[in-house]
Parts: sequence; C-alpha cells; structure tokens
Amino acid sequence: MLSKRMGVFSGGATVAAVVALAIAGWAPQAEGAGPKTGSTKDPNYPRIDFPPVWGKSGDLVQPKDFRRWVFIGSPFTPHGLNGGKANFPEFHNVYVQPAAYSAYQATGKWPEGTMMVKELQLVDKSEFPDGSRLESSGRGYFPGAVNGLDVSVKDSKRFKETKNWGYFNFNHSAPPYLRAAKARPIGECAGCHIANAHEDMVYVNLYKPILSTLPGN
Ligand code: HEC
Repeated sequence: MLSKRMGVFSGGATVAAVVALAIAGWAPQAEGAGPKTGSTKDPNYPRIDFPPVWGKSGDLVQPKDFRRWVFIGSPFTPHGLNGGKANFPEFHNVYVQPAAYSAYQATGKWPEGTMMVKELQLVDKSEFPDGSRLESSGRGYFPGAVNGLDVSVKDSKRFKETKNWGYFNFNHSAPPYLRAAKARPIGECAGCHIANAHEDMVYVNLYKPILSTLPGN
C-alpha cells in the first residue's frame, strides 16, 4: 500500500532519516533556490516526490523540470472558436508530479503538496482565418511557442481559506517565466475553481482519460 510505504513517520529506523531530511531540505529556502533536478523530500509533504519550494515570504518557487512530470491533458480554447478573443487561446498543457499521479490512481485523492502545472502553448502559424492550417495529417491547430505558466498547489495549512489550494501565475508571456510568484487573490483564481471545478478544486474530468490506467497495459 502506498500509504504504508510512504509512512515515513512510523518506525524508529526512519526517524533519523526524517531528521536528516529536515536538516537538508526543510529549512525555508531563499527564492530561486529550489532543487535543480532529481527528487527531494519534504516532511510536510510525505507522499510527494517533487515538493513545492517556498520562498521566505511565502512565494512559490517556479517548479523545476515539470516537463518531466506526468502529462495529464491539454484543454484548448482557440481564438477561432471564441470570436477571435479567447482569454487563453493556447493549448493548456497540464502536468502533475509522478507521486501525486500514483496517489490519485490509488486513492482518488490528491495528496498534500500536489502541484498542477499548466503551461500555455501557442498555436503555430495559421493559414486560415480561424487560426488553423494544413499539415500532412489534415487541417488543424498545431503547437508553437510556449507562452505562460500557472500553478496550483494543495496545502491545507497555507490555503485553508481557499479550499486547500493556492494559485500562482508565473506570467502569461514567453519564457523566462518568473522565478517565484505570490499566491493570487481569491477573486482572480480560486473563486472560479471553487464555483466550477469538478472535484477538489480540479477540473479532473478533463484529465480522467489519462489518469486512468490504460487497459491491457
Ligand atoms: C473563470 C474561471 C477560472 C479562473 C478565474 C481561473 N481558472 Fe484555472 N481553470 C479553469 C478551467 C475551466 C480549467 C480547466 C480547463 C482549461 O484549462 O481550460 C482550469 C485549469 C487550471 C489548472 C489546471 C489544473 C486544474 O485545476 O484543472 C491550473 C493550474 C489553473 N487553472 C490555475 C489557475 C490560476 C493560477 C488562475 C488565476 C491566475 C486561474 N486558474 C483562474 C477556470 C478558471
């Protein structure tokens, strides 16, 4: 069972490891000082392999290497279908940490420290007024430059007021994205997720096809 395997607080042998982790990684980190690669642990988020890193003033440090996490879907609201004025005309590529993905598959719940990363990706050059073009596969929308980064974090202590999730914008423009970002006010992000999201603040129905195990796999 995942919960037993990850139960780092039970058993004397693991106490030393927890203390070591606390010394190595628990102390508040300076903004921009997040882990570059590889998995780390944070006792606040025992089930998470790539935990959120917080700056001194509660800013979220830009998650590193999120493109290596699990890709769970790409909702898409092109200009061509929104009167030429979509607020987010890009592909919305959504990634979640591998451990959070596994935990959701096992329990149907997102563990503390889950991060959903949404990187926006523009449609590449168009030939038609609706923004589409032809490729040898057919007429459609094809991915171009990346253009923004939004992140949500589940932490019931920090974000109790907004149903346990905090929301961060690291720019809606070409990279480099911000190194760290402050939680956005409820009216800007969380309010809409509170009102409309399918389950635990996440539009999970959009990701269920990829959150499920592939039959025969
Ligand atoms: C008006 C409603 C609305 C507002 C405001 C809003 N979102 Fe969302 N958000 C959505 C919808 C709908 C989806 C899923 C479909 C999509 O991406 O188009 C989504 C998806 C997301 C996801 C992917 C994970 C998930 O929960 O499905 C993240 C991360 C996210 N939003 C962050 C933010 C941030 C950060 C802000 C504020 C800067 C914000 N959102 C504001 C409606 C909203």
